[in-house]
Amino acid sequence: MNNLPLNHLLGIKGMNANQIHSIFETAQGFHNLLQAPVKKTPALRDITIANLFFENSTRTRVSFELAEKRLGADVINFSSSSSSVKKGETLIDTVNNILSMKVDMVVMRHPAPGACTFLSKHIDAQIVNAGDGTHEHPTQALLDAFSMHQKLGDLQGKKVVIVGDIKHSRVALSNIYCLKLLGAEVMVCGPATLIPKYIETLGVKVSHNLDEALKWADVANMLRIQLERQDERYFPSIREYSKLFGLSMDRLNKANPNLLIMHPGPINRGVEISSEVADCSNSIILEQVENGVAIRMAVLFLLAQKSL
Ligand code: NCD
Repeated sequence: MNNLPLNHLLGIKGMNANQIHSIFETAQGFHNLLQAPVKKTPALRDITIANLFFENSTRTRVSFELAEKRLGADVINFSSSSSSVKKGETLIDTVNNILSMKVDMVVMRHPAPGACTFLSKHIDAQIVNAGDGTHEHPTQALLDAFSMHQKLGDLQGKKVVIVGDIKHSRVALSNIYCLKLLGAEVMVCGPATLIPKYIETLGVKVSHNLDEALKWADVANMLRIQLERQDERYFPSIREYSKLFGLSMDRLNKANPNLLIMHPGPINRGVEISSEVADCSNSIILEQVENGVAIRMAVLFLLAQKSL
């Protein structure tokens, strides 16, 4: 176990349970602050953060930017669609140019798995991974686990099923690492073609029957089909996928009316989750988004203090 403070947040893999608990404790403080009329603290007022998004994002980009501003940091935003990356500049050159303007931290989303780890070896700034291809999305896993913890208390022995496109989902992988560290039992459920063979080596159960999986679980985390990452057809049609793996009200009531329902967004209503389920009282989808700001404030704050 590594007891040195982390200089970057590249993934959940390699972290330990103490680090996660310390993020939760700090996030709880920021969560309380965010309920107050004045939602800001000057904790990072000497820090400049660059948000580098080389892939589409709504929630994560806005959430990081709000977290940074509420900590008093100076913020610059960069998205690849409007940048010189389109003119052939390399990733390291682009980032180093931005860093030469005295940037302390980089929050990066990139379509290539491992892009943040690669960059961390070549530049002199702290890096937070905001999603690297199909690899990891650590702050999403932290906000998901924090949201579960808020509803269910200690996650030791709690049963979580992650449903859908496990193969292409960075949310699934980071969630599995995080939940296992916190002592939860994890199952993945979906069509065999969307569940990678190696997944069982991570200590998770596998099911291809959603009704049985929902009966077993305390929490269902429903994932979007990552069509933009699929290079071949993994199931016959969206209609059939939805029939077998979509969460409807009828299915929920029959299997487990007390199930806690989560989704990282963006939701495809009527595909992996029905509109009724997304908006029902079991669903904490918007609370996840709310908690995302507090979790990201905690991560940025602890990294800046070199105390993560
Ligand atoms: C996820 C992502 O981008 O990995 N969304 C998010 O960050 N809230 C999941 C997805 O795109 O389906």
